[in-house]
Amino acid sequence: MSVSWSHTRTNEMRSSSSSTPSLHLVGAPTVEHLTSSRQPPDVRIFDCLSCISISRTRKANGRTAMYSASHILGFVSICLFAQAQLTQMPDVNAPEERRPPPWEPPGRVYFTKDQVLRAVERAKERLKARKEEEFLRWSENGCADPPSPHGAMAALFNKPTPDALERANVSHLYEMASQELFRISTNRVRRQLGGDLIDFGPNSVFEDNSLNINFGQFQNSDIIEVIPPPPSLQKCGLTEPSVCDPTSPFRTFSGVCNNLARPNLGRSLTPYTRLLPAAYQDRVSVPRVTGISGRPLPSPRIISTLVHRDVSHLSSRFSLMLMQFGQFLDHDISFTPNHRSFSASIPDCASCDSSRHPECMPIPVPINDPFHPPPNNGRPKCFAFIRSLPGQLKFGPREQVNQNSAFIDASQVYGEHICRTTSLRAPGGRMNATFFPPMGPNSRARELLPQVTSNCRGTCFAAGDGRASEQPGLTIMHTIFMREHNRLADALHQINPRWSEETVFHQARKIVAAQAQHIAFSEFLPRILGPDNVAKNNLGLLSDGYYNGYNASCDPRVYNEFVAAAFRFGHSLVRPHLPRVGARWEPLTPPLLLRENFFDSSSLMNPRMMDELIRGLLASPTEDADRFISGEVTNHLFEARRNPFSGLDIAALNIQRGRDHGLQSYNEYRAMCGLKKAIVWEDLLGEMTVEAAETLRNVYGNVDDVDLYPGGASESALPGALVGPTFSCIIAMQFRKFRDCDRFWYETGSQVERFSPAQLAELRKTSLSKIICNNMDVPIDIQLAALDLPNGSTNPRVDCKALNGIDLNAWREFGVQGRALNSGRGSFCQINERVVRIGEIQLVLPCTSCQCTITGMRCKSIRVTDCSALISRVGLPAMRQDEVCMAQCRRILSNEPSGPPGPPLATAPLLGRPPGPPGPPAPEEGGILNNLSLKGMRPLFNRLLGFLG
Ligand code: HEM
Repeated sequence: MSVSWSHTRTNEMRSSSSSTPSLHLVGAPTVEHLTSSRQPPDVRIFDCLSCISISRTRKANGRTAMYSASHILGFVSICLFAQAQLTQMPDVNAPEERRPPPWEPPGRVYFTKDQVLRAVERAKERLKARKEEEFLRWSENGCADPPSPHGAMAALFNKPTPDALERANVSHLYEMASQELFRISTNRVRRQLGGDLIDFGPNSVFEDNSLNINFGQFQNSDIIEVIPPPPSLQKCGLTEPSVCDPTSPFRTFSGVCNNLARPNLGRSLTPYTRLLPAAYQDRVSVPRVTGISGRPLPSPRIISTLVHRDVSHLSSRFSLMLMQFGQFLDHDISFTPNHRSFSASIPDCASCDSSRHPECMPIPVPINDPFHPPPNNGRPKCFAFIRSLPGQLKFGPREQVNQNSAFIDASQVYGEHICRTTSLRAPGGRMNATFFPPMGPNSRARELLPQVTSNCRGTCFAAGDGRASEQPGLTIMHTIFMREHNRLADALHQINPRWSEETVFHQARKIVAAQAQHIAFSEFLPRILGPDNVAKNNLGLLSDGYYNGYNASCDPRVYNEFVAAAFRFGHSLVRPHLPRVGARWEPLTPPLLLRENFFDSSSLMNPRMMDELIRGLLASPTEDADRFISGEVTNHLFEARRNPFSGLDIAALNIQRGRDHGLQSYNEYRAMCGLKKAIVWEDLLGEMTVEAAETLRNVYGNVDDVDLYPGGASESALPGALVGPTFSCIIAMQFRKFRDCDRFWYETGSQVERFSPAQLAELRKTSLSKIICNNMDVPIDIQLAALDLPNGSTNPRVDCKALNGIDLNAWREFGVQGRALNSGRGSFCQINERVVRIGEIQLVLPCTSCQCTITGMRCKSIRVTDCSALISRVGLPAMRQDEVCMAQCRRILSNEPSGPPGPPLATAPLLGRPPGPPGPPAPEEGGILNNLSLKGMRPLFNRLLGFLG
């Protein structure tokens, strides 16, 4: 039986794409519907110059000037941006006009040393002025601006860590200096000016070669001397090893050292990468204001109300668990933090006027909005929107930072930083849990996540990702996987009683991460892309044997386009309620309405609720993935209780986020994905219905202006898939990275990281259904495929016990307890087909030796002092097989130039050998300017930038 709740969406027939293409036949709502009764000009027009007068007034009053002239320019353009969004709508009947977009790179531009120095000097002044202004506002109000109910919850959802905020200071400096340089470049004839030249051509600006930045020099900044530092920095005194250990079979928490040659690639708190170069209005960071024709882009709220209307199409195939797993998976691989003001206060970005913080980008709501009534104070209404934190550590356009590691590594369960993980761990290799109602520590039945009170509207729970309590469906997934870790840890401890807590924890974590990868690729992805597309993109999993496709030169960083648009397709799967279903699969009332449960998972304290909600997710259909989105998240997102019109709009946030992140238009990504770049609107009809194309046309006016999110979401799904070709293409590229750029991919055959063949065979039995069964309070029965609706013939419900699960005996270790399971020949390890007795050391590879210990093999890297001598002794192929040799002798072993410097390799004690002479010099510590080609300028720059660090 499948359960379907009444919902608030209105049903509407979809028009067929097979009809003769005509963009004038369909009666889709038009912009005029929303703009027919316009506001009087005196209300509509903001005073964009008021920000200039504010700064002048401050100066006149003897206080510090707020912003430099160029800052004011940036400020005014954001102000104009908001004004344009609210007041000007495209004239859909005007001929389509083409101009080169302002963000197109100007070609190769050269700067003299003096110009760069001056730019940095001005950037320092601007940053300092901004910090001072933030401090002044904070000291006056206790926050950047008086707090507003609007957007405060959204700000908590995207909460930055103190580390992210600290790093963003450096990024701002780069950004402001880049703005100065681009300003120079447009004011002058572009020619070679002599002196020490810095090339800011597209190749150097957009190339990311500066991940290894030493932040040390920015820690005691002059800014912090002028303005007291924020009181609480999240420092737990623990850091991950500053050297990579290529012999560790376990991931780090932050993802550092996943790539041994470039250890920071994919690490938490590094920037996203891009499929296409950034598109900012000023080529550095000001979001796009105008479209290709020079006309202002429409407000994201208007786009949302027309393109992403609340029309329900319930899936006939997929369960609501598909939506819930998708959100959980997303929180494993991305977390884009928002800006904060002084002392981590939330800037009030809800007011549409121009006196707001420069990182505000409020979304104008038209006075004739179909849901929000016109404000009774006569002032325009805006949704609060705070820009994402910048994370780039080089000159060039703004890049956003990913607070999570880029790998599918279950970091939403364990945390992306050793401090967070440590706070979540419990004795016995387990994860912390609260027991409610208390049933004693040996009972797993009622384990809930640890409770937290901050950033919460009721009862919230702590997990590896700070967003775990955003809505109870998500909290449930976190709870299931925390329980799974503890289930595994207890079982592993029983099987291998001599394992230390540490080993139990890391082995259980390794299994959970493998399960997450397996489910993502075997169950989730084929339903999103369709089985054919999975095969075409070579994204299928192996049914046996190891996968040897790891590519050390592959860049694991997540695509900005994936995070800010394509993977947000899942917002359309959301339903307004979380249904509740009883033990006999009978619907229960009332279901949980999302708006009443954002940031409040207190319902899970009810003894039966956890199972009821799980069954609700399993038994109810999800919404289809299309452009339509439930009003529950387009009108009531994070709505304050007893304040009915305080909700936000997820679709508008998605669109504004795309502009904030400098995404190019939908049309550019079509072309990138091999579709025809649309010249006229009819060109879209191969990928979307007439109605969808007509709606976009009514909203945008120019086909080149369509934002990536509404464009991609408007495409019809590919056969057998949930998403259309553009999102499909971006998602497929991203999933390829998840597998091929991850040294710890669970199918890897690499000696150090791999599971044994027997373990891998067990892991391949993983299914989401079995994990759910294993961790429900009272498991009874479940459909075979949790992401599909139950169906008597194709997806029957079976007894939980009848489901295949992984047999942990494959993790029983040789040599433990003085017995070996296979041979009965006493305590030993098996290393490379050879039997090694406990205490003995074996050279397993030219640069790696392993010792058999009572708890199993312990391998260490051997420091190479003379690469050439070792190569002539063991040969190139043997050297290349050993990652430890590769990492130390890369320059000789491969003809590639070595990557940017990373942490030096572990210099493990030489096993059984006296320490040799010092090896080759460790790579130079990545200074902040190391990778910027500032020939001969580093000392000068260090001095100049010294005030920041
Ligand atoms: C009830 C369910 C959900 C709610 C309330 C929700 C809400 C949100 C919110 C408020 C944001 C931040 C928007 C911004 O300021 O830019 C966000 C981001 C995002 N959401 Fe959802 N979402 C839900 C489900 C999903 C699902 C099912 C998926 C995918 C399958 C998904 C994918 C994403 C992605 C990729 C981001 C960007 C994350 C980042 O930048 O770190 N969401 N969501």
